[in-house]
Amino acid sequence: MTALDSRANSAARGMLAGENGTMTKAYLEIRDLVKSYDGWQKAVRGISLDIQKGEFVSFLGPSGSGKTTTLMMVAGFEKPTAGSIRLGGREIAPVPPHQRNIGMVFQNYALFPHMTAAENVGFPLRMRKRPAAEIAKRARDALAMVGLADFAGRQPRELSGGQQQRVALARALVFEPDVLLLDEPLGALDKNLREHMQVEIKRIHRELGITTIYVTHDQTEAMTMSDRIAVFSQGAVEQFAPPLDVYLRPATRFVGGFVGDSNFLDVTRGTDGGLTAAGLGALDLPAPEGDRFHGLIRPEAIGVWRGGEAGEHCIVSFTVEALVNYGDSVLLIGGGHGLSLRARIPFVQATDIHEGNTLQLAWRRRDMHLIPA
Ligand SMILES: Nc1ncnc2c1ncn2[C@@H]1O[C@H](COP(=O)(O)OP(=O)(O)OP(=O)(O)O)[C@@H](O)[C@H]1O
Ligand SMILES: [Mg+2]
Repeated sequence: MTALDSRANSAARGMLAGENGTMTKAYLEIRDLVKSYDGWQKAVRGISLDIQKGEFVSFLGPSGSGKTTTLMMVAGFEKPTAGSIRLGGREIAPVPPHQRNIGMVFQNYALFPHMTAAENVGFPLRMRKRPAAEIAKRARDALAMVGLADFAGRQPRELSGGQQQRVALARALVFEPDVLLLDEPLGALDKNLREHMQVEIKRIHRELGITTIYVTHDQTEAMTMSDRIAVFSQGAVEQFAPPLDVYLRPATRFVGGFVGDSNFLDVTRGTDGGLTAAGLGALDLPAPEGDRFHGLIRPEAIGVWRGGEAGEHCIVSFTVEALVNYGDSVLLIGGGHGLSLRARIPFVQATDIHEGNTLQLAWRRRDMHLIPA
């Protein structure tokens, strides 16, 4: 059994290996979750995830891949068609949303328009019938936490989009939830405000240690903020792993193509058992099981070959069809030997390269990651 198999098997039992090798029970266990809105098509097709207490997990995937639907089932606003969700060992299907102690910021973060910021934030506590003085104090504290202490008396229409966003965040935090669900909370913000809020959300996560699920389309956001990323495609999770694993060792071709820029080469096993890549010939790589693979090479792993001992490098002749300048780096798009390639090189190494040039590109053999086809 490989390490991956063993992890998959323990995940299926709701266990994960702790740092000292002991098995710890997951805090939020999502098991074989299915959702069909119309009884025919499946928006979520059997998702299983084990999330640890205090973990920051991102759901990353294209539009319509089932991220919001999964979140709404965890929050209790949608009923699963099949499967189970356990929180702290307890099945939460029969528990109504307001008794789950789960805070949620919705994709459209709807605030109550006729209430002030403080009233919006205090609302979950009024639902829980807390005394008025406690509600006032905790709403004040939650607004201060998101940097809006001076805006308590304003109505949503008197606040900017980013401020409304922070009110929604304060409202999700005010009752000290066990789990915080954030559905693309920064989608409507400009780049600077977005980066500022990313830092704020991470700070709040660090301070409060709340188990958090963060939905985003934005791979950079998922890469920089998360302990682990669940990559969604068509109602299923294709990989659930730490950001660098997802980037360097994608489990499927979809993940490799969705996260980061990529080159895929067709790799097949020859009759002699060795691996061959179309356009490249024999590959001197440790061969995993299987006969066909997608060989993934990230564009930034490819450089311009200026001569010397080939050693562990694959070297190919390449004609530049297009050159895209990003300022700090340059993307070379082109091909040769029947291969299409994209190479991203530092700007300072590209000053003598022009469209139409034929040159040699190289990468280290071990930088190719093989994905079973
Ligand atoms: N209330 C609903 N009734 C019927 N179908 C729905 C409903 N909500 C979502 N769907 C469908 O379920 C699928 C998954 O939708 P979901 O909202 O979970 O996607 P998403 O990953 O959150 O997408 P986005 O990134 O665009 O927000 C889509 O095909 C969508 O059209
Ligand atoms: Mg959504």
